[in-house]
Amino acid sequence: MTSRIALVTGASAGLGVEFAKLLAKDGHNLVLVARSQDRLQRLADELQQQHGVRAQVFARDLSQPGAAPALVEALDQAGLTIDILINNAGFGFSGKYHENPAEQEFALLQVNVVALAQLTRLLLPGMVARGWGRVLNVASTAAFQPGPHMAGYFASKAYVLSLSEALAYELKDTGVSVTVLCPGPTQTEFTERAGIRESLLFKLSAQSAEKVAAIGYQAMLKGETVVISGLHNWALAQTIRFAPRGVARALASWLVK
Ligand SMILES: NC(=O)c1ccc[n+]([C@@H]2O[C@H](COP(=O)([O-])OP(=O)(O)OC[C@H]3O[C@@H](n4cnc5c(N)ncnc54)[C@H](OP(=O)(O)O)[C@@H]3O)[C@@H](O)[C@H]2O)c1
Repeated sequence: MTSRIALVTGASAGLGVEFAKLLAKDGHNLVLVARSQDRLQRLADELQQQHGVRAQVFARDLSQPGAAPALVEALDQAGLTIDILINNAGFGFSGKYHENPAEQEFALLQVNVVALAQLTRLLLPGMVARGWGRVLNVASTAAFQPGPHMAGYFASKAYVLSLSEALAYELKDTGVSVTVLCPGPTQTEFTERAGIRESLLFKLSAQSAEKVAAIGYQAMLKGETVVISGLHNWALAQTIRFAPRGVARALASWLVK
């Protein structure tokens, strides 16, 4: 496979680390983005040593307005042309929307929605002009229904799913594909950060980050549009589509509480 430059957001933990490993194994050079500079640098060193690729660290807080456009500017200045974009950074937290800290809800929107939308919008034109590109956006099975007690998070993932599907259609025949990965519960730092480790959702089943990332990565390489990791997650997402909206809302609330 031709060596490309791949940008992975949220590459300091969980799924992001696994995506970076898969890309490096395939010989792609890397741009690793997250806030934790030390963790990114350790991963970059490890991947450079193991796979002989170039891995560069751009420590950025994507919750800051303007962080994503500034990152693209820095990439331009460094002469880095991104052909593979993995919009993976994201977080969630539980609680009632009107009681949660407002700044936390706004930061979630900024990371899960705005930064993803900006990186996609700013990097796609180059890919289209060059006639090749791969975008992998990480949504969630949360994208398929509203989620009381994690309202902002579920809504952010619905945006990611909708945008990605529409872009995949718009970009047909351009050589650029957009894939959206919808994981169900996955063993990463997400649950701890979200404060939902004890939720029924995560007690019932959680897939390994390695497995989920591999499913998303393969789908991205093939240019598939929507991929739900795990048969049980796929079945739940299909069931929800035909359930009355009130039932879907109640089910989601029960699972995350
Ligand atoms: N784990 C699950 O059960 C699950 C299920 C469905 C979907 N997802 C989605 O999968 C994606 C990856 O999450 P994960 O499960 O791998 O969680 P994770 O282990 O907590 O990793 C999240 C990554 O996002 C980065 N990040 C968070 N806030 C950021 C910010 N303000 N600026 C830059 N980077 C930031 C974190 O890095 P720093 O802290 O170093 O900034 C970290 O690298 C997310 O979009 C999540 O919504 C997860």
